[in-house]
Amino acid sequence: MATIAVSRPAPHVCLIRFDRPRARNALSRELLVETAAELDRAAADPEVRCVVLTGDDAAFSAGADIKEMPDGGIPMWGQADRLRAWKTIERFPKPLLAAVDGYALGGGCELTTLCDIVIAGDGARFGFPEVRIAAFPGDGGTQRLPRVVGKTRAMWMMMTGEMIDAQTACAWGLAIAVVPAAETVARTLDLAGRIAAMSPIAVAMIKEEVLMTYQKPLDESLSLERKLLLWQTEDHDEGIAAFVEKRPPVFKGR
Ligand code: HXC
Repeated sequence: MATIAVSRPAPHVCLIRFDRPRARNALSRELLVETAAELDRAAADPEVRCVVLTGDDAAFSAGADIKEMPDGGIPMWGQADRLRAWKTIERFPKPLLAAVDGYALGGGCELTTLCDIVIAGDGARFGFPEVRIAAFPGDGGTQRLPRVVGKTRAMWMMMTGEMIDAQTACAWGLAIAVVPAAETVARTLDLAGRIAAMSPIAVAMIKEEVLMTYQKPLDESLSLERKLLLWQTEDHDEGIAAFVEKRPPVFKGR
């Protein structure tokens, strides 16, 4: 049975909804692999310019599927298809947004830190409860969370396992906005639509360049940014022409 539901609610926008409501959308191996496969399809499809991840009212995702955790042997975290799926999500080249209602815990919260922009419903709760089962946020959380919220807040979240509410998540930079829960998905789709109206090439360049800050020393990423200034596209010409002619631009992704 599929663990995600995929739709195209607006032009150029793909919505991936986690669909394991009875397990609080826990990130089973199957859910991760299906999500990664869908992202691969979205990456290759020029019609898709922006992807939104969401869950349901109760949970964006309660994290790794604890019931899949083995008693011993090779930890499931190290399974190749699971690691490949996280890598695919991490490398997804187009804008990836999250509409978060309910719980975003553990791997579910790690997933939000991999998204480019997060919108939180006013009932959303973010947290890293791994420590309570004697685990740690090993799907990138120990590295990404401090970069988003700072070391002290990350330590507090991970060492206590306590949750923060949507307002705090927004104040700490985990989310860009808090909206009424009934509007979370619609507001995120609206944002996705606005981003999808931009030149997809420019948007992809922005994502690639911003992510360089996490991957390279500053002097290296600054010189790469300089080199990337040499790019030229039809969309860029169109953007300038539209500005001069006082009309909205039409970007074709060329
Ligand atoms: C598997 C889960 C689950 C999870 C919830 N469920 N979270 N199943 N994995 N992560 C299941 C419950 O067992 C239950 O199944 C059903 O979903 C509903 O959960 P309840 O607890 O009854 O719901 P509620 O009272 O609303 O509480 C929701 C919750 C709580 C706060 C999210 O379920 C919870 O604390 N879950 C665990 C969250 C967590 O520890 N996440 C981190 C996982 S580790 P039944 O069959 O009883 O109805 C991780 C990364 C590890 O993410 C990486 C290591 C390298």
